[in-house]
Amino acid sequence: MLTNKYIVRASVVGTIIGGAVILKDYISSGNCPSKATIEGKTAIVTGANTGIGKETAMELARRGGRVIMACRDMGKCENAARDVRGKTLNHNVFAKHLDLASTKSIKEFAKHILKEEEHVDILINNAAVMRCPHLVTEDNFEMQFGVNHLGHFLITNLLLEKMKKSVNPRIINVSSLAHVVGDIDFEDLNWENKKYNTKAAYCQSKLANVLFTSELAKRLQGTGVTANSLHPGVADTELGRHTGMHKSTFSSTMLAPVFWFLVKSPKEAAQPGIYLAVSEDMAGISGKYFNVLKEKEPAPQALDQETARRLWEESAKLVHLEEALKECES
Ligand SMILES: NC(=O)c1ccc[n+]([C@@H]2O[C@H](COP(=O)([O-])OP(=O)(O)OC[C@H]3O[C@@H](n4cnc5c(N)ncnc54)[C@H](OP(=O)(O)O)[C@@H]3O)[C@@H](O)[C@H]2O)c1
Repeated sequence: MLTNKYIVRASVVGTIIGGAVILKDYISSGNCPSKATIEGKTAIVTGANTGIGKETAMELARRGGRVIMACRDMGKCENAARDVRGKTLNHNVFAKHLDLASTKSIKEFAKHILKEEEHVDILINNAAVMRCPHLVTEDNFEMQFGVNHLGHFLITNLLLEKMKKSVNPRIINVSSLAHVVGDIDFEDLNWENKKYNTKAAYCQSKLANVLFTSELAKRLQGTGVTANSLHPGVADTELGRHTGMHKSTFSSTMLAPVFWFLVKSPKEAAQPGIYLAVSEDMAGISGKYFNVLKEKEPAPQALDQETARRLWEESAKLVHLEEALKECES
């Protein structure tokens, strides 16, 4: 027979677990409040084979869109696209090659989309690499700045004329709260003359996402195309693969309860991007930064219009934007 002592202990443990679950639900909360469907619309999601990108593609497919999953590894991409088609029963889900670490690949992808797609309504610039060792892209850009910022800068610009022909087209740049400690070093954007710092390089690239969004929105005024950026929340994805913490014994044993408590699932972290892409509330909203589902002022350095303008000009020079636009037109 249970004594009173055990009953009291069991109820205390039950209350703690119940409280933790409620608090966890609160921390993770933030489902896209819109039920809008996107039949007839075409959406491109970069880095869609895993993590937040895959869940974003899944939800856009569930809402009836034609979804192009743009990834660098075609094996992973085909598998993910098959999974999305199977789970959503939407057969308009396609795997396409896009390596953001190669301007050649970006131009090939753009040429294909410009030729094959009647319209592009949603572009979600999601892919990223975080805190990798000092690597360079095919064009000798520092990897995090090259993939996270320059690659998305180029692909967005190459698809813009096509997007302008759509009804209420939307561009969503997935940034991060990490932008708040970011700094744009115009003297050395590609880390050629200073000691490499993996964290500062990631933060620079995520600040660049917010600055790019703001300048893009400014240049798009009057075209009908909107551009916004967001922080998705902290999620359990493969993003930490270069940090040593990802899937380590320490993180999967000692830190697991903390992670469970504080970290979202990729599906939960996909909600802000879905909201910005589909919600009726977001029609006509442009140039804003969202912390999960709420519009928020980004860090002061992300509001500096002169920095945003200069970053655009430097980025255009680095990726040879004018030549790339001519090449993709022809
Ligand atoms: N997870 C978080 O806590 C968190 C927090 C704040 C912001 N974010 C942002 O959320 C976005 C999604 O991140 P995630 O957490 O889902 O990370 P993830 O699981 O690591 O997914 C990143 C995706 O980017 C792709 N990618 C990397 N390099 C690429 C390249 N050169 N060309 C094309 N695709 C490339 C990856 O492809 P492979 O699988 O082939 O490498 C993968 O599909 C990122 O922009 C990240 O900065 C995430």
